[in-house]
Amino acid sequence: MSKIEIKKVLWEEFSEWHQHQLKSVFWEAAHNNTSELSNDLSRKCFFDRWLGNYLKASPITFLFCAFQEQNIIGYCVGTSSTNNFYGAEVPPMEQLFSEHWIKFPAHLHINLSAKNQGAGVGSRLIKAVKRLLSTLNSTGVAIITSPDSHNVSFYRKNGFTHEFTKHLNDHPLLFMGCHCLPENQRSIGDHTYRDGRPQNRRFLP
Ligand SMILES: CC(C)(COP(=O)(O)OP(=O)(O)OC[C@H]1O[C@@H](n2cnc3c(N)ncnc32)[C@H](O)[C@@H]1OP(=O)(O)O)[C@@H](O)C(=O)NCCC(=O)NCCS
Repeated sequence: MSKIEIKKVLWEEFSEWHQHQLKSVFWEAAHNNTSELSNDLSRKCFFDRWLGNYLKASPITFLFCAFQEQNIIGYCVGTSSTNNFYGAEVPPMEQLFSEHWIKFPAHLHINLSAKNQGAGVGSRLIKAVKRLLSTLNSTGVAIITSPDSHNVSFYRKNGFTHEFTKHLNDHPLLFMGCHCLPENQRSIGDHTYRDGRPQNRRFLP
């Protein structure tokens, strides 16, 4: 296999070719969830919810891509501040776990093209995100998935070991949090400014 590079990138600096590739990875990974997306508007809402809104909200968001010979084979997108990212319009799924965003203020979404799964690329993307978040003094990062999903073991393996299950409309959802800083350096809550710069640290007593 040729060398795979993980890079932090800016959507607005992407060529049309790379924009197209990123979208292709997204739709390939999403195919299991798209049966109800019958028209252009519902497809657009779905795309914006899970990827598009993050691309437009830099610098409180980040985008890392995995490149193989100039081709995008996977990405990880997210925000250092879930609170600032959603503002007053927190979706029901994220609202359900509102008390946990204090300890784990960042969140991410990750997808790899099918033929590149299971080869360690996802773990490398998570490592790069955690490195960035620790430089922003972010105490932790979280994801929400389904408790019976195949990806649960992937997240556990990558340090997302703080788990909380709740139900939304009878569907179980699993919040998985991962610390980004050592215990003695964790500040309380979300101290990231809206422009993505870290605020002064306040350490736990
Ligand atoms: C989940 C995902 C990002 C993991 O990245 P990856 O590079 O495949 O994972 P790694 O090789 O770093 O780690 C391997 C672990 O990931 C998990 N994994 C492997 N293939 C997977 C797949 N197709 N779907 C979900 N998890 C998978 C397994 O737990 C595996 O551990 P094991 O090798 O001990 O069995 C990637 O497989 C993927 O994009 N899956 C489909 C979309 C998805 O589930 N995205 C997350 C939405 S919350």
